[in-house]
Amino acid sequence: TGSLLAAIDGPAGSGKSSVARTAAERLGFGILDTGAAYRALAWAALRTGIDLDDAAAVENLLDLWHYDITLQGTQRVAVRVPAFDGLPSDEIDVTAEIRDHSVSGQVSRVSKHPAVRERLNAMFRTIVAESGLPGVVIEGRDITTVVAPDAPVRILLTARPEVRAQRRAAELPGLSPEQVLQDLIARDAKDALVVDFLNPAPGVTLVDTSELDFEQSVAAVTDIIRGAQAHQA
Ligand code: C5P
Repeated sequence: TGSLLAAIDGPAGSGKSSVARTAAERLGFGILDTGAAYRALAWAALRTGIDLDDAAAVENLLDLWHYDITLQGTQRVAVRVPAFDGLPSDEIDVTAEIRDHSVSGQVSRVSKHPAVRERLNAMFRTIVAESGLPGVVIEGRDITTVVAPDAPVRILLTARPEVRAQRRAAELPGLSPEQVLQDLIARDAKDALVVDFLNPAPGVTLVDTSELDFEQSVAAVTDIIRGAQAHQA
């Protein structure tokens, strides 16, 4: 039996990232956070000062800069900038910075470009295929539908908007819950124009975490993946 692929989609604040990460750790799987790649790309675009709405310019950054995402442990995200103008090649750790409000507010502008999405999707598929791990959980917005529609496990994690905003506010001290709810609704609306991550596609298991605590959410996801593992064995 090869590596088991578990695809998880969901909106911001559904618990998707933390639940997927913890479930993967408990299963001994790797975890690929595709949002981190979009964030790293947005970070790079902001850093170079290119127009984020310019698809060709954003795509160009995918050619020039290398994006490193580790599937295990700290889930470090780094951007490698090539040697330029006498300066040596440099690797910048952006793990913390890509979570910043300044990136979250701009990332939809790079993720809306179909050509950029295709390039990143190809990168995700390669990373997963070369993982060498017993399994990989891959999470994002369009994993169950576009990136890995044939994955043996496909889950859509959701929660009511107010619940999601509350969770996000708890992670982002300094911003008011009202501000967080507004930002979240605005970002969902922009992202939903590109991919539908609020309704499960046929064959996708819906897990609503509105009434579940963290442990219960993790258990729901690991149970589904273990079921598929047993089926595959
Ligand atoms: O999951 P996270 O909130 O970190 O994702 C950040 C952004 O990356 C989203 O708001 C969306 O614009 C983009 N994204 C995407 N497709 C994915 C994952 C993330 O468009 N599969």
